[in-house]
Amino acid sequence: MNKVHITIDGIKLYVPENYTILEAAKEVNITIPTLCFLKDVNEVGCCRMCVVEVKGARALQAACVHPVSEGMEVFTHTPKVMEARKVNLELILSNHNSMCQTCTRSWMDCELQSLANKLSVDNVRFEGEQKKQPLDIGVSIVRDPNKCILCRRCVSACKNIQTVGVIDCVNRGFETKIAAPFNLSLADTPCVNCGQCINYCPVGALHEKSDIDQVWEAIYDPDTHVVVQTAPAVRVA
Ligand code: FES
Repeated sequence: MNKVHITIDGIKLYVPENYTILEAAKEVNITIPTLCFLKDVNEVGCCRMCVVEVKGARALQAACVHPVSEGMEVFTHTPKVMEARKVNLELILSNHNSMCQTCTRSWMDCELQSLANKLSVDNVRFEGEQKKQPLDIGVSIVRDPNKCILCRRCVSACKNIQTVGVIDCVNRGFETKIAAPFNLSLADTPCVNCGQCINYCPVGALHEKSDIDQVWEAIYDPDTHVVVQTAPAVRVA
């Protein structure tokens, strides 16, 4: 394997030419935050949390997918990079149901929450429209599109690891979403309920169906997105 000389934050490195900037940075223990990236599972470079400055490049580059090249100089924690990561994170949070108190992944198990803590993002400056989509309550898996950050890890897990492929990323721009074909509920697809999508989701957009979800299923009208009766006093056996 051919190797190339690069510099990351002033540290000189000699790494294989098929490395990404992220892999090269790991060699010298430089931490670059990631969110959508999962080695060998999801390498699509869509969240832009891992952006870095590359000398001579016009724009910031996503370290998880940008290959190294001979003589490359990379800067991972400049003020411009830190500000861009914060803005990207705020944009993700601006269209995310942040009811962390009741989320199955809250407190130490949510990568989005951890990242917000690490980058000291406790306020979202963007108050635009939020997507309101119905829950998809399947046989044993619940999808909450209002918590989805469109990282596509679930799509990769379903398609490439489990070779089932019942969900994909559809539409563009603000209308982008993860969905089954023809907007079917997971319950109406050949989903095998393996639960791998839950394991790979970095947030609480997918979780195992519980007794509480079954109560919501009983009172939630997916066509009108309306709760059709007040939640009864629930006793979970
Ligand atoms: Fe690199 Fe998401 S982690 S773009």
